[in-house]
Amino acid sequence: MNIIMLGAPGAGKGTFSAYLEEKYQIPHISTGDIFRENIKNNTELGAKAKTYMDKGELVPDELVVSLVVDRLAKDDCAKGFILDGFPRTLPQADALTKALEDAESGIDYALNIDCPDEFIINRMAGRRVCPGCGASYHLVNVPPKKEGVCDVCGAELIQREDDNPETIANRLRVYHEQTQPLIDYYADQKVLENVDGTIGRDNVFAVLDKLLD
Ligand code: AP5
Ligand code: MG
Repeated sequence: MNIIMLGAPGAGKGTFSAYLEEKYQIPHISTGDIFRENIKNNTELGAKAKTYMDKGELVPDELVVSLVVDRLAKDDCAKGFILDGFPRTLPQADALTKALEDAESGIDYALNIDCPDEFIINRMAGRRVCPGCGASYHLVNVPPKKEGVCDVCGAELIQREDDNPETIANRLRVYHEQTQPLIDYYADQKVLENVDGTIGRDNVFAVLDKLLD
């Protein structure tokens, strides 16, 4: 099963991708996580990506596309994958369509996690993430069992550098300009499913179960 997660920053793409990864045992590929890992490891790619991410701008297509296409060619993607945060522009979507066609494959579901901006601004302020394993929490909605500590690996939770009000506002602006058009792109391909992202995490899990099982 080949899945794309669409949705604004903070809509829940990472949260629901992690759920589906566990359930279907297919890899969760988040371009944002790949860039953050590169920043942590001081790679050249990380240094380039950071200049854009810190401002809430998109990393240029040429730095993203080949990275994802190479990742999808790995053996663990043979039974499917969940792409989180890619594609984000029409050229990225076209490149993905072409790469999958070349491999005689395609997208089965483009899940659009629908969440209004005012919801998102609220959510991002409460988000905490694990720098160790990448698990995502929310101070109110999805608190860890022990305050400030990751349930999965025990690391101390942090706030993401791009989760500050100015950067969030720019990420939302960039989303509406460059990524929202992909909703129509995947509707045209007849693989789009809209999922209400405002209804609470467990309720969304139930909706996803019904949709994909
Ligand atoms: P990326 O890491 O992809 O960030 P994003 O798209 O801004 O999305 P987020 O990760 O912030 O949110 P999410 O939708 O995963 O929400 P989450 O599940 O955490 O990208 C970061 C940057 O990298 C970009 O700005 C760009 O610079 C660059 N980049 C990445 N990919 C790129 C690409 N393809 N091209 C160019 N540049 C690229 O949920 C948010 C919070 O809400 C959490 O606290 C969660 O616990 C809570 N929550 C979620 N859903 C619910 C719910 N239903 N009920 C209650 N709480 C919920
Ligand atoms: Mg995410």
